Amino acid sequence: MEKRLRGQTAIVTGGNTGIGEAMCEALGAEGANVVINYHSHEEQAEELKARIEKGGSKALAIKGDISKEDAVIRMVERAVETFGRIDIMCANAGIQADGKSVELTLDEWQRVIDVNLTGAFLCAREAARQFLKQGLSPKISKAAGKIIFTSSVHEEIPWESAPNYCAAKGGVRMLMRSMAQELAPRRIRVMGIGPGSIKTKINAEAWATKEKEREEVERFIPYGRWGEPVDIGKVAAWLASDEADYITGTTIFVDGGMLLYPSFREG
Ligand code: BGC
Repeated sequence: MEKRLRGQTAIVTGGNTGIGEAMCEALGAEGANVVINYHSHEEQAEELKARIEKGGSKALAIKGDISKEDAVIRMVERAVETFGRIDIMCANAGIQADGKSVELTLDEWQRVIDVNLTGAFLCAREAARQFLKQGLSPKISKAAGKIIFTSSVHEEIPWESAPNYCAAKGGVRMLMRSMAQELAPRRIRVMGIGPGSIKTKINAEAWATKEKEREEVERFIPYGRWGEPVDIGKVAAWLASDEADYITGTTIFVDGGMLLYPSFREG
């Protein structure tokens, strides 16, 4: 099979676990050099690096808190030093610190905004600066660069127990669209992926027992199953490839129909 991302370098933030890990694997499988950014659990990042290398692609693990400007600048610099260029930025790292608005502390609000929105901005900005420096390389890709934000169905669906998370993801949606508008004439594509219920650590409580798992499906997921990280990883690799060259400024929802508001079925 032809590898669609050969010769390209991708950075994935929060790349050592969950959706990020699946993105790294899918991008590596398509031939990309993969930069695995991680915040903690170095051993997971190193294991993933070894797995990607075993599959025939290059990988590099970089520790760094993407909510900090200097860490993001250094991460992009190191990626460029190592692989000569970058082509894909998956601004994926995200956290939750849930609580209803009247209960939420300023710290819980701020942490989620810092990582999920400010961090995403910093990663996208540094990637865009690097893409602009590099310009178009038609032998590598039709686009001069690709930025993929991991958003959420909650850029759209309000969620009373996570107003900070929803505000951040709603912000990511408009950041994505504004950057797409700015950068399309420079042939840089900017997109979001909006996952629904994907089995990762972030929502482990919601699938901790078979019963809870089933309840989520019955209430929220018309397609009848939870998503797996690989469902998102594959979409990210495709979105980054030239097959999706005419896509920019939009969120691709990968949610088993969660946005169809299934509770209205019998309404
Ligand atoms: C959240 C998960 C949640 C899912 C569907 C995601 O963005 O991180 O905790 O299960 O949306 O509600």
